Amino acid sequence: MKLKIILASALLALGAVAHAQPMVIKYSHVVADVTPKGQAALKFKELAEKKLAGKVEVQVFPNSQLFGDGKEMEALLLGDVQIIAPSLAKFGKYTKQLQIFDLPFLFDNIEAVDRFQATPAGQSLLASMEKKGITGLGYLHNGMKQLSANKQLNVPGDAAGLKFRIQSSDVLEAQFKAVGANPQKLAFAEVYQALQTGVVDGAENPWSNIYSKKFHEVQKYVMESDHGVLDYMVITNTGWWNGLPADIRAGLKSAMVESIAFGNKVAFDEAAGFRAKVIADKKAEILPMTKANLAAWRAAMKPVWAKFEGDIGKDLIDAAQAANQ
Ligand code: LMR
Repeated sequence: MKLKIILASALLALGAVAHAQPMVIKYSHVVADVTPKGQAALKFKELAEKKLAGKVEVQVFPNSQLFGDGKEMEALLLGDVQIIAPSLAKFGKYTKQLQIFDLPFLFDNIEAVDRFQATPAGQSLLASMEKKGITGLGYLHNGMKQLSANKQLNVPGDAAGLKFRIQSSDVLEAQFKAVGANPQKLAFAEVYQALQTGVVDGAENPWSNIYSKKFHEVQKYVMESDHGVLDYMVITNTGWWNGLPADIRAGLKSAMVESIAFGNKVAFDEAAGFRAKVIADKKAEILPMTKANLAAWRAAMKPVWAKFEGDIGKDLIDAAQAANQ
């Protein structure tokens, strides 16, 4: 009897300790801490742990440390990580509609992307993967992509025959095929080495990724093409999210909204700074593109739109284009 009581009290005490432990929330991503996404993730940790003091502990894993491309989405669905923020180019397996963000020359600038994401059509895409167990918590910016290679890419013909690293997107594959290049889908963590060893000749990246991953040190030219956007959707596991106690979910949601606003401000404020750092490093030559040359790239890549219009929906493409005004 005495033993039973001792055991029961020990179990109760253990239970109390277990109850007092904060819930661990893992936030994994593939880029460096200094980038807009890296900054947003750290801000989320700070805010969530402040708003839900003692209740949650957020662990941030940058630079593909926990999961890289290809694994992170599966890990989210398995419950091995709770928050990730993949590029909008990496959702092809789960929804075709998000392919809209990869259409070349669709958005004039990141402000237009921001306006489109805020429309009802843009917001509805956040819920487009719920049946697959993925809930979008918000969009997060990085920036417009720049083409890079070891030769100048002034006109579309300059890319013919070159191998370009792309994210896992069929639209991006079609985009490079449209100019006679050979696209290769590679995980982000492999890009530097692939460029360095000549596995690929070129790539497309926003300034913060070029600078923080030193891609400009292994490329002779970066062309200021702004030909597409690289943005993210911050996502979570629908079952996990809906099963959270209401106070925790509300605290996390509010931390997420604020952290995204913070990350977006970094994206807007610091894109020019990352570009300036790449220029200051003097490793690659940064070349502007003339209006006429950009028009030639735009014309060469435009057929890609028609190819994906059926999957994406013409209404959505029209809504995105309307955001340019
Ligand atoms: C890439 O693979 O190039 C990007 O999606 C990486 C990132 O998360 O910005």
